[in-house]
Amino acid sequence: MGRLTGKTAIISGAARGQGAAEARLFVSEGANVILGDVLDEPGQQLADELGDAAAYVHLDVSDPQDWTLAVKTAQELGPPNVLVNNAGIHWVRNIEEEQPDAVLKMFSVNALGCFLGIQAVAEPMSHTGGGSIVNISSVAGMTGIHGHSAYGMSKWAVRGLTKIAALELGEKGIRVNSIHPGPINTEMLPERVRDVPGVFAHLPLGRAGSAEEVANLALYLASDDSSFQSGGEYVIDGGGWAGHPRR
Ligand SMILES: NC(=O)c1ccc[n+]([C@@H]2O[C@H](COP(=O)([O-])OP(=O)(O)OC[C@H]3O[C@@H](n4cnc5c(N)ncnc54)[C@H](O)[C@@H]3O)[C@@H](O)[C@H]2O)c1
Repeated sequence: MGRLTGKTAIISGAARGQGAAEARLFVSEGANVILGDVLDEPGQQLADELGDAAAYVHLDVSDPQDWTLAVKTAQELGPPNVLVNNAGIHWVRNIEEEQPDAVLKMFSVNALGCFLGIQAVAEPMSHTGGGSIVNISSVAGMTGIHGHSAYGMSKWAVRGLTKIAALELGEKGIRVNSIHPGPINTEMLPERVRDVPGVFAHLPLGRAGSAEEVANLALYLASDDSSFQSGGEYVIDGGGWAGHPRR
């Protein structure tokens, strides 16, 4: 028995990075997984590699119709019990240089995308007695980070939405939690710092994390091992959030 045997999960942004690591881990733990992304080729390739337990669907998380299709596809494998709202975009720009359209774009993917995902799965999940929704926020949703106005606002929104969804959906047996990663070695990290030794020496653990380390936390929150946890926020950042390190 795997930790997700009998469950069907939808993972957004699953073509690469943390979403791909979650898809691999969830399938290995017995779940059926719908991989959604806008990167169709790598997403389809990964689903093919994972076999019959996986299916790829084009899912632009800011499009409600794409969510309808994703839920329909999931229902062909089994009613959705798990949603990982993982898709995200990121850039660094100071407030004075940021453009209103760009802020709205960031919001439409990072924040509205999570909202639409929750809306799409709430009813089908409630019909099966409940489930688990895991929203991927960031440490940028816990504190201010220089140059992260649009990204930070969107990730604070995800953290807040998580609390509201936990309050509204608890009576349907749906748990909702947020994960707040620090630097994780995926393509989202700027190349100048990705996989470069020493760049994160200031963190207590002295390094960036891996997609697989975040996937392990997502697995715990997706599985029944966390059956009494809802509305929580889980930082995974090598200790950075603990306080101010010695200089
Ligand atoms: N890498 C980090 O350092 C870090 C830190 C904190 C939080 N996060 C968050 O973790 C999540 C996963 O990011 P990652 O590190 O794997 O980065 P990544 O860039 O490798 O993966 C993001 C995925 O989201 C997909 N995506 C982008 N726009 C989309 C859309 N409109 N609809 C559907 N999919 C879309 C991308 O195609 C990609 O596959 C994101 O929400 C990100 O904000 C990342």
